[in-house]
Amino acid sequence: MPATIVLGAQWGDEGKGKVTDYFAEDADLVVRYQGGNNAGHTVVVGEERFALSLVPSGVMYPSCTPVIGNGCVVDPGVLLDEIDMLTSRGVDPSRLRVSNNAHLIMPYHRKLDAVRERYLGRQKIGTTKKGIGPAYTDKFARQGIRIQDLFDPKIFRDKLDVALEEKNKLLTRVYNQLPMDGQKIADEYLGYAERIRPHVADTSLLVSEAISDGKSVLFEGAQGTLLDIDHGTYPFVTSSSPTAGGALTGTGVGPKVIDDVIGVAKAYISRVGTGPFPTELFDEVGDTMIEVGKEYGTVTGRRRRCGWLDLVALRYSARVNSLTGLFITKLDVLSSFETLRIAVAYSSLGERYTELPRQQRVLYNCTPVYEELPGWKTDISQIREAQDLPAEAVAYLRFIEDHTGVPVRWVSVGPERSQVVEM
Ligand code: GDP
Ligand code: IMO
Ligand code: MG
Repeated sequence: MPATIVLGAQWGDEGKGKVTDYFAEDADLVVRYQGGNNAGHTVVVGEERFALSLVPSGVMYPSCTPVIGNGCVVDPGVLLDEIDMLTSRGVDPSRLRVSNNAHLIMPYHRKLDAVRERYLGRQKIGTTKKGIGPAYTDKFARQGIRIQDLFDPKIFRDKLDVALEEKNKLLTRVYNQLPMDGQKIADEYLGYAERIRPHVADTSLLVSEAISDGKSVLFEGAQGTLLDIDHGTYPFVTSSSPTAGGALTGTGVGPKVIDDVIGVAKAYISRVGTGPFPTELFDEVGDTMIEVGKEYGTVTGRRRRCGWLDLVALRYSARVNSLTGLFITKLDVLSSFETLRIAVAYSSLGERYTELPRQQRVLYNCTPVYEELPGWKTDISQIREAQDLPAEAVAYLRFIEDHTGVPVRWVSVGPERSQVVEM
């Protein structure tokens, strides 16, 4: 696997952490390219469970260099806490590299994220309240503060003063909040500089050189395709580009170096936060998915919404990412059901949709057109060879391949690192 993108093909939490960790054994670099600590990636090694929000999942292997690319937004306090957490649990994060150009999540970003959600009321997005949206807003407004600014106190303070003047007006006059103190923020953030300094690098150069040297590089997406700022269910999305294109701009490499684009998709679907979700279930089938699949947020602990697999959405994801393979996770969770349903189209006002409708309104009131497939009703979590999978499970996977045109190359049958079947 020379240069491979691993990304979420649905609404996040597909199991990207597990999949990245599975591949990372053979990777020289694992690079996060977007998002921040809104991500929660779970890696399970034996009895140990790690929830990573910023540090790439490759950190678990001493042979692998984890890299946080320029497209990410970094909350430095959170980053240092995660480094400490890993160290205390016997994982060495000293190889971690962070882009000098990555933007910082500032305290006013977290504050604005929270108060804007409150302000939106019923229209809220259901963000993780980590300051992601406001940090990317400042980046694009060219008012952001970057990692490299931590090492130039004068520039840091100047940029902070400009940003804070506007933010404090917003906080006090629009949102009825107390203003924030620039000196306090500067003291806190400049205080992080010395601990972060050894990790800072020109990561675009690092990644490009690794690829030129024939090393294997894994790009680890956060969130998922349908949460993409351009290609997702806007405005119920995150503020970055989890799709394959984001891996290029978010790290500073060109499209020609990418060999493989692996879409990670659950065998069903989950979503946290608000926004349309045509196959969402509100019955005991959905409850079973949540309980058996342990569908509670890694970051916020929120109960995830669950529903049947949606092949209209997955085919869309295959297209916008040019997927070369699918990694289907949590197939074991479907062992609970006698009969499985898969959406192959949507129906609304007498019209049938096999592509995502151009008017998003349709996504809210459409009815999924389901096909039914027999379940297997047997424990598959110990299976490691494709030939040992029940015929019904193989038929389910073939159905996905037929409707997306993308080969299912791996299947995950449990949270642990070794619970993978190569197809
Ligand atoms: P990510 O954000 O895409 O990395 O996914 P999360 O870690 O937020 O959520 C996926 C959850 O499912 C985690 O608790 C994983 O440990 C778990 N998981 C991953 N793959 C499997 C699988 O094949 N079967 C089961 N039962 N759990 C899995
Ligand atoms: P991983 O990487 C699932 C959702 C939030 C909300 C929307 C915007 O673990 O798959 P944000 O805080 O990003 O502004 O919130 O996006 N969201 C996620 N949902 N998995 C994630 O990350 C998510 N990161 C953000 O719930 O609906
Ligand atoms: Mg997650």
